[in-house]
Amino acid sequence: MSKRSHRPVAFGAAAFALALAISPLAAPPALATPTPMHQVARPQHEVTPALTPTALLATKPKPPRDPARADVLVNKKYPLIPRKYVPRLTEVPGTGIRLQPQAAKSYKKLVAAARRDGVDIRLTSGYRSYAVQKGLLEKYTRAYGPAYAQRIAAKPGTSEHQTGLAIDVGNRNRACALQACFATTKVGNWMAKNAPRHGFILRYPKGMESVTGYAYEPWHFRYVGTAQAKAMAGSRSKTLEHFYGVAPAPRPNAAKPSAPKSGTLKNTKKTTANLNLRRGPSTGTTILKTVPRGSTVRLTGKKSGSWVQATHRGTTGWMSSRYLR
Ligand code: DAL
Ligand code: ZN
Repeated sequence: MSKRSHRPVAFGAAAFALALAISPLAAPPALATPTPMHQVARPQHEVTPALTPTALLATKPKPPRDPARADVLVNKKYPLIPRKYVPRLTEVPGTGIRLQPQAAKSYKKLVAAARRDGVDIRLTSGYRSYAVQKGLLEKYTRAYGPAYAQRIAAKPGTSEHQTGLAIDVGNRNRACALQACFATTKVGNWMAKNAPRHGFILRYPKGMESVTGYAYEPWHFRYVGTAQAKAMAGSRSKTLEHFYGVAPAPRPNAAKPSAPKSGTLKNTKKTTANLNLRRGPSTGTTILKTVPRGSTVRLTGKKSGSWVQATHRGTTGWMSSRYLR
């Protein structure tokens, strides 16, 4: 499991009625035979001419539920079957992290392609068991309260990580690790542009929380296979939920984290004075903002003398460690 350190982010909305109106509808069971991934152009639920318009409206889309397959839909509304599912796994060499074999193979190719472009990707999470996911959610619940925790971490039995098809990636220098600003880093940029070519899609895009159920995670990618990634891009589907034409996942309260207890997460600190957040590790550099006394900041791990790099409400800069506890 990676040491995750999420922080607040903000998002938008979508409607089930609209999704139902514009989406392909479910085939009757007899027509819903699985399609091999290499033949996938659109989801399996094609409209059948045998159904009347009324019958069509009554037919709910049926997204793929087999967690051994790369096209499975897993979210708050579509948990894993069974909840304690354990996939066939293989280690991504040199990482100690495991994925389903097909995802691991494609990930290796992706890493090699990135390296050729001078980009060094660090894998920070892959398969997480039911028990590990439970521990993770409990940790965030202690730190931020349940509502916010559930915007950033899935309940056990509902995480894509438990399928062995999801990855979290980072930069070797850990820049903006598990933060929205990861999108602007070398690895974040490269992944956004190139991951789909290798069968990995950005699973929790910005502004899609009401559809996916989760805050923006520019570091979380889901292996769906190259054919489906291409089909998704072709159909301009921003999320798997859109692609499968299913109702948005239930909208959690747009909860802000309650102030974490100091020291609950290893890399959070409280300011003991009104403290300047500066562009660089010296008083000669620009003040980005003044962080009020008593605020919680997250340390990125970078240090320079008595200065530490820290993030406060989306702004990352440097502050004196003397006024942190
Ligand atoms: N952070 C994602 C939503 C998970 O916990 O699976
Ligand atoms: Zn993830």
